[in-house]
Amino acid sequence: MRINNDTIIRDDHPLIREKSEKVSMPLSKEDHELLMSMLQYVRDSIDPEKAKEFNLRAAVGISAVQLGILKQLVAISIDYGEDGKTEFALVNPRIVSHSVQNAYLKNGEGCLSVEQVHEGHVFRHARVTVKAYDALQEKDVTIKAKGYEAIVLQHEIDHLSGKLFYDSIDPNNPWKEDPEALVIE
Ligand code: NI
Repeated sequence: MRINNDTIIRDDHPLIREKSEKVSMPLSKEDHELLMSMLQYVRDSIDPEKAKEFNLRAAVGISAVQLGILKQLVAISIDYGEDGKTEFALVNPRIVSHSVQNAYLKNGEGCLSVEQVHEGHVFRHARVTVKAYDALQEKDVTIKAKGYEAIVLQHEIDHLSGKLFYDSIDPNNPWKEDPEALVIE
């Protein structure tokens, strides 16, 4: 499956608000291929030449629901340049614990399924522990994430319950601050 900007559903599509179903294990060939196509999308999306050639919009994560497929599959690729990459190809990810401390991106969040700009801080947990099956490592994993990685995981896992980032922006005070929070530039 070739994923591009035209195959991604937007927030005006009713499926984007649906709950995704648990994926049965062991992972079927079809689900594995779908997840790997999703990962390839995020990897390629930050390469300007590939993005132009294949009609990709830059992203660090994608969930299957964004292709209109209600399965609990999430792919993440965060490129830190010289400091390497963090990648996950997760099946049935769930947050099992989190910090009390909040975190948010200083300039707000974006999403492949959201074309309009929604300005404001999206408060999330500064640290999360996620359990899932990771198809890259081919095993069940427990991920302890903090900061940016924790935010990306929460954004993608929210998609599995039909939640979008702007749902949690305070409409009356979008740039509200939390002095205790971890603010990520
Ligand atoms: Ni998103």
